[in-house]
Amino acid sequence: MGPRSSKRDDLAPRGRGGDIVVPRIEQYLESLETTRDAVLLEMERQAAERDFPIVGPLVGRMLCLLAQSIGARRILELGSGYGYSAYWFARALPDDGELILTEASAENLAQAKEFFRQGGVRCRVRFEPGDAFEILERLPGEFDIIFNDVDKQHYPSVLHKAIPRVRVGGYFMSDNMLWGGRVVDGPAEPTTEGVLELTRLFFRAPNLYTTILPLRDGVSVSLKLA
Ligand SMILES: C[S@@+](CC[C@H](N)C(=O)[O-])C[C@H]1O[C@@H](n2cnc3c(N)ncnc32)[C@H](O)[C@@H]1O
Repeated sequence: MGPRSSKRDDLAPRGRGGDIVVPRIEQYLESLETTRDAVLLEMERQAAERDFPIVGPLVGRMLCLLAQSIGARRILELGSGYGYSAYWFARALPDDGELILTEASAENLAQAKEFFRQGGVRCRVRFEPGDAFEILERLPGEFDIIFNDVDKQHYPSVLHKAIPRVRVGGYFMSDNMLWGGRVVDGPAEPTTEGVLELTRLFFRAPNLYTTILPLRDGVSVSLKLA
């Protein structure tokens, strides 16, 4: 292949692996993010080594920015893995703020705990093992932000279970809303159908104002209006 076609290849989206942003553009954007500490970099290294789907630095920085933009004090994650996205939220919270991680895998959660210890995270943190929806049901009160990253076939249930628990003026955010491009490919598998159904619900809900940002694998941000 000549230089022209290899350049075109380089500009092709990565496809179904999760990341859909043109690699050269993604690398450029990532080069602008210079605030990651040793813990975040180690989490990224492990994600690459284990092929573990973390949100990555561009989405992480955005989560942190959006949390700061509304002065968030209480944040809940549904599906925390080993704590990468949560670590970005922790950066935005005040010392007396509260961050709750939920995770089905005890092993992932133990790793998250260790990363948070190493990073000297100062806000209050709860590590809740088990099913995110069951945990949500027994947690009291409202949240400034709920971030959703559970198994995609369960995405539609977040609308009824989680949106009522976000305060008015708060955000509900959801990862993988472009699902490696499968949202426009069809035919739908249960995971893709889950993402598509949640998307329809978001854009029909009168109390939400939603956009999907095509960062990494697509992140929805819904402002709760009422
Ligand atoms: C994509 S990973 C999360 C990555 C994390 N948000 C990050 O960017 O660092 C999804 C995680 O959610 C967990 N999970 C999936 N469904 C869940 C559920 N219903 N309740 C709790 N955890 C769940 C999985 O075990 C997995 O570790």
